[in-house]
Amino acid sequence: MSTLLACLPAVVMAGDPDAPTPLAKCREAIELLQLTPESVLYDLGCGDGRICILAAETVGCRAVGIDLDAGKVQKTRRIAESRFVGDLVTFYQGDVLQVDYRQLPITHAYVYLPQDVVVKLTLILQQCKGLVVVSYLHPLKAPHKFTKHGFYVYRF
Ligand SMILES: C[S@@+](CC[C@H](N)C(=O)[O-])C[C@H]1O[C@@H](n2cnc3c(N)ncnc32)[C@H](O)[C@@H]1O
Repeated sequence: MSTLLACLPAVVMAGDPDAPTPLAKCREAIELLQLTPESVLYDLGCGDGRICILAAETVGCRAVGIDLDAGKVQKTRRIAESRFVGDLVTFYQGDVLQVDYRQLPITHAYVYLPQDVVVKLTLILQQCKGLVVVSYLHPLKAPHKFTKHGFYVYRF
């Protein structure tokens, strides 16, 4: 984690919709997801890729990040290579609302997106049976299993 700190911006602007999950909260998110090496984690709106990279580094699972911003995706690929997890993580440019997750080997999803996007995403993710979702700050439009320290945890 401390070396990951060196690669990524630690200071973010309050209220910025592009703000990443604070580094101090990333480990908590990974714990709440209860990943195993067999898990396949998707970070929907992955930003600088910190959640995917941390999951690959600490759990050794596969992780996929999707973000609208092509520039961010290019940068996250470089960071993952420099962290020696390029074989475990993949980043795609795209809209998370346009993906059919039922066709993918997704087991876990991390969500930190604007509230309106989170609400729209709910119906899409609910179609994935057994999927574990952790959403940061913004709840999905579905009953959560539990909530803790700003995280909402779901199992569909
Ligand atoms: C609040 S940041 C969170 C980044 C990262 N998940 C994290 O936790 O550090 C939200 C990210 O979602 C992206 N985003 C917003 N709407 C999106 C959409 N519809 N599809 C894909 N990415 C989206 C933004 O470009 C931004 O990088």
